Amino acid sequence: TISLATEIAGIAFPNLMTNAAGVSCETTQELNAVLASEAGGVTTKSATPVARPGNPTPRQELLPLGSINSMGLPNRGLGYYLAYATQRQALAGQDLPAEVAAETAQHKPVILSVSGLSIEDNLAMLKDIQQSPFTGLTELNLSCPNVVGKAQLGYDFEAVVATLTEVFSHFTKPLGLKLPPYFDFFQFDGIAEAVGRFPIAYVNMINSIGNGLAIDAETETVLIKPKGGFGGIGGELVKPTALANVRAMRLRLHPDIKIIGTGGIRTGQDVFEHVLCGADAVQVGTELWREGPGVFKRLSEELRAIMKEKGYGSLDDFRGKLKTMG
Ligand code: DOR
Repeated sequence: TISLATEIAGIAFPNLMTNAAGVSCETTQELNAVLASEAGGVTTKSATPVARPGNPTPRQELLPLGSINSMGLPNRGLGYYLAYATQRQALAGQDLPAEVAAETAQHKPVILSVSGLSIEDNLAMLKDIQQSPFTGLTELNLSCPNVVGKAQLGYDFEAVVATLTEVFSHFTKPLGLKLPPYFDFFQFDGIAEAVGRFPIAYVNMINSIGNGLAIDAETETVLIKPKGGFGGIGGELVKPTALANVRAMRLRLHPDIKIIGTGGIRTGQDVFEHVLCGADAVQVGTELWREGPGVFKRLSEELRAIMKEKGYGSLDDFRGKLKTMG
């Protein structure tokens, strides 16, 4: 069968698809369920230094064409996810019989996501990670739209540069950035210029489109409780914005900086389109929530069918090769 493997910062993913941070990844049970599927690895729920219950419920709803959420970073605290990632890394280093290796998804990597509520939080967590044995990918989430009173850092390019300057004064492990969607060419240029100053391993485009509003006409009420009903929009609704952000970053960033495409992946064709725009790997949020970890097998089969039909033997045959019109 056609390989869907990929690589970021020398870390091998047997399949380019993983969960998007936030979906099926708060507990070890959920994380293991992703690893037991066809996914190529797993991303942990964005951690804060200490555990948080998050926003009041109901705080997430599926929509006909996507989802809305205002979770507010419910998570078990960095220590929980760092312990998990470190244990998985130790497992990967063991000499196990083939059946045990398959059963435990031994070599699938963990992406450790962190999302401090302040620059100090982020620096403190990255120091902990730097001092830990974990050598995998860390993803710094600069784009959570749902914490009351906290702006999305990814929209403030000066703050991004200030944060990354501090981060890279001590952090030497592979670091990716989870960024918000951008909507204007000045923004594409601005974030690419900011990111390009640092030894970033990858950018992950995009987080949810912040602060949308979904309502129920019959009851004349909002769908989620926090923030008067405002929340991050994901799923099919955001695909054109996600593809634009992947493409815009691929056209601007040094080829050594990898791109994870996230947003609106519901079918194998959506994965194909993300890769065509330049994605090295992709992540699935809303559809994983809707369908469960079995989604990765379906998407893999659908993607392989498209590749076969088009005569592509590998992802490299079409990655980033989107055509424009004259
Ligand atoms: O849509 C999101 N929801 N993006 C994030 O980065 C955080 C998450 C939450 O916990 O609110």
